[in-house]
Amino acid sequence: MDARLARVQYTAPFATESFADSLAVGLRKSPKEIASKFFYDAEGSRLFDLICELPEYYQTRTETALLQRHAPEIAALMGKDAEIVEFGAGSLRKVRILLDAARPQAYTPLDISGDYLADVVRALATDYPALTVRPLVADFTLPMEIAALPQNPRRAGFFPGSTIGNFRPDAALALLRRMRGALNGGGLLIGIDLVKDPVLLHAAYNDAAGVTARFNKNLLARANREFGADFDLDAFAHYAPYNVNLQRIEMYLVSLKRQTVSFGGAGFSFAQGEALYTEDSHKYTIESFREMAAKAGFAPRAVWTDEDRLFSMHWLESR
Ligand code: TRP
Repeated sequence: MDARLARVQYTAPFATESFADSLAVGLRKSPKEIASKFFYDAEGSRLFDLICELPEYYQTRTETALLQRHAPEIAALMGKDAEIVEFGAGSLRKVRILLDAARPQAYTPLDISGDYLADVVRALATDYPALTVRPLVADFTLPMEIAALPQNPRRAGFFPGSTIGNFRPDAALALLRRMRGALNGGGLLIGIDLVKDPVLLHAAYNDAAGVTARFNKNLLARANREFGADFDLDAFAHYAPYNVNLQRIEMYLVSLKRQTVSFGGAGFSFAQGEALYTEDSHKYTIESFREMAAKAGFAPRAVWTDEDRLFSMHWLESR
């Protein structure tokens, strides 16, 4: 191993659920569904990075600008020599703003996609030679315990990208509580997409270049790659309407014809027009999110938003 990477401490994977088993169970349900965490194999993580650069997808650039603008204030809240723990770290692009401003002693990125995490961590560790980097391959929807580092630094959580919106309200609340537990009294910096003109929301999940459609269909492609399923990607349509009453984008893969798909020795039939439910993306108001955070045992403190009120960042203290 590269000497520089000796500081990068890899930890054995936490518990995970098998994609093949989960898909088989989900396809027997009515309506059919699959948990959205399975989007993120290495290919899915790369496709998601392309989504983040789409003109219609305002979230990433708006959140990044908020982080840049308020970095000094955020750094002061996190304190010096902290351990930043990032949930669902992805490309590790946004955290660099915090690493530069807050100068933590350690960075613990958690991600479900181990191959992708290993790739991006290698680049980050080269750029931040003094930082202890501890990547954890983890499914944070399952119970998690993050071992204390020897110096036992104060923790600061980082959960950007409005990923909490990909959980139903009950599960989101439970996840916030678990994160609060994992942070050991430290605060949480969290990005939340806001309710807004439904036309803008719709465009963000139905981009003209079709990248979101490819990302959604990567679930099927992944099943074909990993366990020899025979999904015909052209026989499914990406469909992502905004549900105004529930204030969420709902994402589906809709079967364009009557068909049977096979894997693991079983057949799964789709009626023409039948949907596989792949994801929710809930939107909040600043107030409705602060209420949920308080229910989870956090004290909501600072909140930052852009002039157009597209997106918000919240600093939550553990009570
Ligand atoms: N947290 C992101 C969001 O809800 C995830 C996301 C963006 C996403 N676009 C997507 C997930 C398209 C699936 C498909 O906005």
